[in-house]
Amino acid sequence: MKVLVVGSGGREHVLCWTLAKSKNVDKVFCAPGNAGIAQEFECVNIKVSELEKMADWAVANKIDFTVVGPEAPLCDGIVDVFKSRGLAIFGPSKAAAQLEGSKTFAKKFMEKYNIPTARAAEFDTPAPAKDYVNKEFANGEKGIVVKADGLAAGKGVLVADNAKDACDFIDLCFEGGFGGAGNRVLIEECLFGEETSVLALVDGNTIRALASSQDHKRAYDQDKGPNTGGMGAYSPAPVVTEAVLAEVEKNVLDNVLVGLQAEKLDFHGLLFVGAMVTDKGVKVLEFNVRFGDPEVQAVLSRFEGDLLDVMQKVAAGKLAEADLIWSAEPAVCVVMASGGYPGDYEKGFVITGLAEAAATGAKVFHAGTALNDKGEIVNSGGRVLGVTARGKDVRSAIENAYKAVDCIKWNGGFCRRDIGYHALEHEAAGK
Ligand code: AMP
Ligand code: GLY
Repeated sequence: MKVLVVGSGGREHVLCWTLAKSKNVDKVFCAPGNAGIAQEFECVNIKVSELEKMADWAVANKIDFTVVGPEAPLCDGIVDVFKSRGLAIFGPSKAAAQLEGSKTFAKKFMEKYNIPTARAAEFDTPAPAKDYVNKEFANGEKGIVVKADGLAAGKGVLVADNAKDACDFIDLCFEGGFGGAGNRVLIEECLFGEETSVLALVDGNTIRALASSQDHKRAYDQDKGPNTGGMGAYSPAPVVTEAVLAEVEKNVLDNVLVGLQAEKLDFHGLLFVGAMVTDKGVKVLEFNVRFGDPEVQAVLSRFEGDLLDVMQKVAAGKLAEADLIWSAEPAVCVVMASGGYPGDYEKGFVITGLAEAAATGAKVFHAGTALNDKGEIVNSGGRVLGVTARGKDVRSAIENAYKAVDCIKWNGGFCRRDIGYHALEHEAAGK
């Protein structure tokens, strides 16, 4: 079978790599891919925003199955376009993708279907939003969260511990700081606890969680610095105990399924539930309608089943029959980023040590890489590489990942040195 993966990041690299191991896969294509993906798979020069062109290409090249990585084409309706051409595809419809595309849509869905989440209010103009923020702090709230309503590449959220920062961010949203995403804001109570990313397959009849994972959102060690798309991840996440998983299944996943069915939202794909494990139970921070990155790099590194078979069963509404098989070995993914990320950064620096890193046994997934005119691999994005390794326990998985990381260099490149530390803390606490 011929499989097409849509996207160009670390998530798409690990999807190509895992799909290629499936027994019925003859060839994997990636559109548009990146320099690292192109070393292993055939990349097709079509942008993720070119939906009709992508579908034309899939028809012309007799693609049997397509897997969509990023949220933007899902929110633009790529699944609807492909299905209208009779092409099999993994992902939610445009209508269902609003669970990620609109934070107010997601919040209403959670409230309607009794999915535990932060208390929230939405505003279309800045003045009442700021009044609300001031009242919340006056009532003794220790923090407040302001969210621009729409896709803002992970940048449209501020967790503020004072009213001034929150109000400045509200102004930024309404002044167009996040394009159309800021014409409406959602203001939420601030939740405290440990975060986890629950990735669940859903096919309209069944919803099933994958192996647990956690990412590290802040740019610098000890969770300091600005929020990013994710600086590293590990799987399993000890915070997801059997009791927490059972609670997520009962209060979140089962209710999501009821909601999708009741609202007739066509969703045959992957739902990512960003959740906070608080002392009052698990609460949902956000939904995404695609695999989390870098979480997926750690999670799929532990997957020992047949991913194409699983995804085809999801597309066919037969998820209940799919075999989800996981290695007991933990996996850790360390993201290496361009100097300055998540702010401005320079591109085009030659990356050295990739072969040495691979020789350690770790897998280096590429995200923001390109070839220069000499054919050398250079950095071309904020998050550049996801260095992923397994180990007999989480400590050795961490060591194995950093052994590979330490081989790789480019001007300005950096990573966190503490990926997985929450897991080690749980281990030390005997939990
Ligand atoms: P979101 O895109 O909605 O997940 O928000 C991005 C990040 O902001 C989350 O991963 C959390 O770290 C943080 N966050 C979002 N909502 C809240 C909340 N209600 N309380 C505390 N932190 C939050
Ligand atoms: N790592 C978080 C995300 O993919 O949104």
